[in-house]
Amino acid sequence: MSTNAILEVKNLAKAFAANKVLHHVNFEVKQGEIVGLLGPNGSGKSTLLNIISGFVGPDAGEIRLVGRSIAGMPTYRLVQEGMARTFQLPIMPQKMSVLEVAMAAATDAHGVFSTLFRTARDRAAERRALERARHLLDELLLTRVAHLPASAISGGQKKLLGIVCALMAEPRLLMLDEPTAGVHPNVRNDIVQALHRLNASGVTLVIVEHDMHFIRDACSRCIVLDQGEIVASCRPDELASNARVVQAYLGASVEVAKA
Ligand SMILES: Nc1ncnc2c1ncn2[C@@H]1O[C@H](COP(=O)(O)OP(=O)(O)O)[C@@H](O)[C@H]1O
Ligand SMILES: [Mg+2]
Repeated sequence: MSTNAILEVKNLAKAFAANKVLHHVNFEVKQGEIVGLLGPNGSGKSTLLNIISGFVGPDAGEIRLVGRSIAGMPTYRLVQEGMARTFQLPIMPQKMSVLEVAMAAATDAHGVFSTLFRTARDRAAERRALERARHLLDELLLTRVAHLPASAISGGQKKLLGIVCALMAEPRLLMLDEPTAGVHPNVRNDIVQALHRLNASGVTLVIVEHDMHFIRDACSRCIVLDQGEIVASCRPDELASNARVVQAYLGASVEVAKA
């Protein structure tokens, strides 16, 4: 492994029945990178994220987080190891307040809020989690709506809250699945800036995204999946002149050509 790799994926393969979704996927992400994961619809991006984050088991292959093999590790262990992710469609309890949703993510991540054993240590952990939740809500511009039920906030704000929840566990690698899909352009810029601040604080990012403006503004490198294979790894400004990338997107999108 290269010495500063945070994530290494080797020969990863996955099929759903006869549908071979990923074949021999190989790539690595270095500490501190912001990597865009691109590819036409159905090319296997979400499946790749689901496998790396432990939600779906691979058929074959190896995944390493900071050199340690993690393939097949349950999701809660991966969170403890420093990996977090967001989902393409954020799902959250709608009646809880925005602040409570963030706090509930701390519960999932650390298991610190047992209602049966509320010791002084639990209360200290709860105070720290509350401080962190308030800090992150502020960072992701949600302080104004922190008291509202989750059902009352916009789709873009739900995406931001999904990022807050993922960050409650203080990950060193954060993977985001389409963070700007369906999001107002103003919120899109807020997300770009929040991700840059997060990266400056030491968090490595892998971002599945279609929006080429976002990719160009946010990412230092792109990897491109086409029909379950990685066909390119390049800077965002090199995408349009990469024949494999153009071929992957021909007919599916004209946005790459404008990047
Ligand atoms: N749980 C699943 N069961 C069966 N097929 C799936 C499942 N998840 C994804 N697929 C299939 O895998 C392929 C890749 O899907 P996906 O990873 O969601 O692509 P992307 O995120 O790039 O749009 C698609 O053909 C999809 O139908
Ligand atoms: Mg997807």
